[in-house]
Amino acid sequence: MNDSIGRKITYLRLSVTDLCNLRCRYCMPEKGVCPKSHDEILTEEEMVSAVRAAVGLGVTKVRITGGEPLVKKNILSLCERIASIDGVSDLALTTNGTLLPKMAEDLKSAGVNRVNISLDTLKPQKYTYITRRSSFEEAIDGITAALNAGFKKVKINTVLIGGFNDDEIPDFAKLTMASPIDLRFIELMPVYQSPDIGPEAYLPASKILEALPDLKEEPSDGVARLFSFEGAQGKIGIISPMTNDFCASCNRIRITADGKIKPCLHSPAEYSIKGLSEAEMKAQIIKAINEKPDRRGELNCLNPSNSGRYMNQIGG
Ligand code: GTP
Ligand code: 5AD
Ligand code: SF4
Repeated sequence: MNDSIGRKITYLRLSVTDLCNLRCRYCMPEKGVCPKSHDEILTEEEMVSAVRAAVGLGVTKVRITGGEPLVKKNILSLCERIASIDGVSDLALTTNGTLLPKMAEDLKSAGVNRVNISLDTLKPQKYTYITRRSSFEEAIDGITAALNAGFKKVKINTVLIGGFNDDEIPDFAKLTMASPIDLRFIELMPVYQSPDIGPEAYLPASKILEALPDLKEEPSDGVARLFSFEGAQGKIGIISPMTNDFCASCNRIRITADGKIKPCLHSPAEYSIKGLSEAEMKAQIIKAINEKPDRRGELNCLNPSNSGRYMNQIGG
């Protein structure tokens, strides 16, 4: 289905839980978020119905997000059911990777064909600082497990944080030489106003190109600009939601774990589907797509996102 300015909506991001086993400083406070009661969260049946309703309107790509989707008990059955919906041609999942050593193979068997793994540093101590948890080894083993499980694609998402990981840009980039991993640097977005993240943390993606002068640009059909090194096995993507908003080509809607359709990451507009029949959900999705904002407003550390949620309650 097309929205009011002709953007074709083909991509659904489904956040299956807002719980997470990490506490990344730019994402949520130390104490986490007040867990929603069981009745507030969409049931597995409702999630499957919501995806079917969206697919009926032209969605072909579904990404499972969180929080951390792999902490959800019924994640395998949910993935299996979504993968088997006629019309879902791409089922992907975004994870912090720490539970992949145990789950990568089962996810692959359940029909997930791609995983994106979030990793903001290659140094164990810095990992413990930024995530407030000591799961560095599990995250690294998770990347290996994903590569071994044979997913069609394994990507690493690195949020560029000034004064924290900008010194690691070359080390991250080198990962694409040795393994078939695509690495994406993402500009930090002011979604949660964390006391630990000051103005210096917000760096433009141009810093990446300055740090990696040997990159060659490649064609791209997504929101990331793509580059690679001569002889590399993987690509380097740069996602610049801050310095180069991609609202004009935005093809996505989001559904939160508590059953709210969000037509835009940075808008407070939400359309509830909790407790509705599939037909009623479809009507709400149509309304959300028709009312999708043309573009987000001004976004910088002084003008944070109007999303009204922490990132773990949206799923990126
Ligand atoms: P691919 O399907 O592999 O291209 O993944 P993806 O980039 O769509 O998903 P992923 O979950 O890996 O998200 C990467 C980053 O892009 C996250 O930081 C998201 O917050 C950011 N991002 C995703 N969608 C949007 C969006 O609509 N607007 C903005 N501003 N940022 C977004
Ligand atoms: N800005 C940019 N990316 C973010 N992510 C989480 N919070 C932010 C933020 N404020 C990233 C995660 C994950 C993806 C879904 O979103 O690290 O890779
Ligand atoms: Fe968890 Fe992802 Fe938020 Fe980190 S960014 S706390 S991994 S939801």
